[in-house]
Amino acid sequence: MRNLQKGSDLKSIAEIERLPLHFLQLDVTDERTINTSIQTIYNEAGRIDILVNNAGYALSGTFEDISIDEIKTQYETNVFGLIRTTQAVLPIMRKQKSGMIINISSGLGRFGRPLLSGYVGSKFAVEGLSESMSYELEPFGIKTVIVEPG
Ligand SMILES: NC(=O)c1ccc[n+]([C@@H]2O[C@H](COP(=O)([O-])OP(=O)(O)OC[C@H]3O[C@@H](n4cnc5c(N)ncnc54)[C@H](OP(=O)(O)O)[C@@H]3O)[C@@H](O)[C@H]2O)c1
Repeated sequence: MRNLQKGSDLKSIAEIERLPLHFLQLDVTDERTINTSIQTIYNEAGRIDILVNNAGYALSGTFEDISIDEIKTQYETNVFGLIRTTQAVLPIMRKQKSGMIINISSGLGRFGRPLLSGYVGSKFAVEGLSESMSYELEPFGIKTVIVEPG
């Protein structure tokens, strides 16, 4: 989580359900926190089997009104964040010759919608990246999955 203080409810549920969850601070826009978290997981577990790229949000507004800075910030999380985390785990997965990258896209990674052009563009990018990387990673035993919630 980028803000560990938000984890208290999840921690309580994990304790009640006896789930062995570990909480680490990670902001997908901050490469340092990504590298530190992934190194910590690898040091403790000795492997990483699954990465779920879920972090994302939807910028809304008419195309004419949204600023370049707002669009850059949108891509910084939805696209570059996903690229950063994926590139950070791939050397580990390639070495172990297995792994799964699950990219949370959207139905809006398949078709456009008014007032969401910044978001839709970012999810189309996620789809293109995911489809292309899947061909490269399959020979190393790494699967790429796209999830498109409605
Ligand atoms: N809900 C839908 O209808 C829907 C439909 C299609 C696709 N999706 C996709 O599903 C994914 C999850 O969305 P959601 O609806 O569950 O939204 P959400 O409830 O707002 O959850 C998004 C999570 O991403 C985290 N996050 C945002 N920016 C981050 C960053 N820079 N670093 C680390 N974590 C960050 C947020 O953390 P904080 O709690 O700190 O803000 C939040 O926990 C997104 O990729 C979204 O595009 C959702």
